Amino acid sequence: MGRPPGPRYGFPRKYLPTMRRDPLGFLTRLARQYGDVACFEQMGLEMYALNHPDLAKSVLVTQADKFKKSRALQRARIVLGNGLLTSEGEYHLRQRRLALGAFHKQRVAVYAQVMADYAARARKRWKDGATLNVSAEMHRLTMAIVAKVLFDADVESESQEIREGLSVFLRIFPRMMLPRSDWLLKVPLPMHRKFHRSRERLDATIYRIIEDRRKRNVESDDLLSMLLEARDSEGDGGGMTDEQLRDEVMTLFLAGHETTANALTWTWMLLSENRDVEVKLHAELDRALGGRLPGANDIADLAYCEAVFAEAMRLYPPAWLIGREALEDVEIGGYTIPKGSVVFVSPFVMHRDARFFPEPQRFNPERWLEDGKRAKPGAWPAKTAFFPFGGGPRRCIGEAFAWMEGVLLIATIAQKWRMQLVPGQRIELQPIITLRPRRGIRMTLEARSGRG
Ligand code: HEM
Repeated sequence: MGRPPGPRYGFPRKYLPTMRRDPLGFLTRLARQYGDVACFEQMGLEMYALNHPDLAKSVLVTQADKFKKSRALQRARIVLGNGLLTSEGEYHLRQRRLALGAFHKQRVAVYAQVMADYAARARKRWKDGATLNVSAEMHRLTMAIVAKVLFDADVESESQEIREGLSVFLRIFPRMMLPRSDWLLKVPLPMHRKFHRSRERLDATIYRIIEDRRKRNVESDDLLSMLLEARDSEGDGGGMTDEQLRDEVMTLFLAGHETTANALTWTWMLLSENRDVEVKLHAELDRALGGRLPGANDIADLAYCEAVFAEAMRLYPPAWLIGREALEDVEIGGYTIPKGSVVFVSPFVMHRDARFFPEPQRFNPERWLEDGKRAKPGAWPAKTAFFPFGGGPRRCIGEAFAWMEGVLLIATIAQKWRMQLVPGQRIELQPIITLRPRRGIRMTLEARSGRG
């Protein structure tokens, strides 16, 4: 078949700014208008949007070896370096094998206590009637948890600065997609200076975490120790260089909190907008926990809570777009996608497609339950088009971690608090690498009667 359908450009090139200005709207319109395979052009590159789970599976799983990560993630190397998220080929495989031990289900269960304890500390700090930026709170909490369980480090005093630095990076990121962006970033604009300062700040935190551990020289079985002790048995038997270590720690630190923080932020917004769901959640928490802190063994009894988290990630998938670049000509959906083109699959678009999710705009955790028990999809893509963690060899390594953390944090916080959206605020989606609320979300705390 020839070229897939899609907008054709003449003058004015009206689609071009739209993809840059409103990618969620653009990709959604593209899917509805042109179907499961659509083609458009941006900055001289052919881009393909695939809008069916079978096609997404083809890119992420069955033909994964014919693709590499897209340009956007390659550009993210400026902060992430060559870590698990951005590296490719043999090197990626080896590093992934090394890290895997820290993410097995049994290992993640050990993290549960820290997760619930940290959430309990946060909920204790809060005051009835206070207003907080729930996005900032969730970032602070998930950042502290990932630093503690993977690196046994304390970053609480730095979390505000780190969060602000990350926001600067995300704001500047679209500029990095422009040609000659490395040059552009050298132009001494205030925003660029801020970006370089934030990157240095973040680097300093990561190197401090590594140095502290080396100095302490204590036995530990966390991920940082595994990385420090790793030896390349098939190569020269050497360990990782400081730079390699920095890249892995930075990647896990950022990927390990930014996504979960956003998923939780959207969850609180949705709960506040859907009081009937919140009532059911509270009933489950009271029944299953009776006021004590949740742990790994309670997860099985928190099916509704887990469904709430799944449903929030359906509507607001933190990784809203997954991109790849074709390493060779690839056959997909009856078309030949030429070498060098960029392919997108968007969890955001597919999760809101009525073919796969009836009443797609409705926040309805029940869709994940059967007879009150979980019906969470197993290995993706099971029956549904739900893939917030991607798929195939580059599937999220932290998936079990994220489910555990999401459920435990929602349970611990919702046991004591309700959150109400501050009226009149405009909540705007900011889809850059992750799907964030542009200015955060302000919510007012209300102690659940007798539990505050
Ligand atoms: C709700 C939370 C999370 C979501 C939605 C999420 C989503 C994703 C997605 C979609 C990918 C695949 C990207 C691609 O194929 O290009 C990915 C990869 C990755 N995630 Fe997550 N993630 C979450 C939590 C975490 C956590 C908690 C960690 C670590 C503690 C983590 C670490 C990583 C790493 C290291 C990769 C790269 C894996 C590789 O390529 O081998 N993520 N994540």
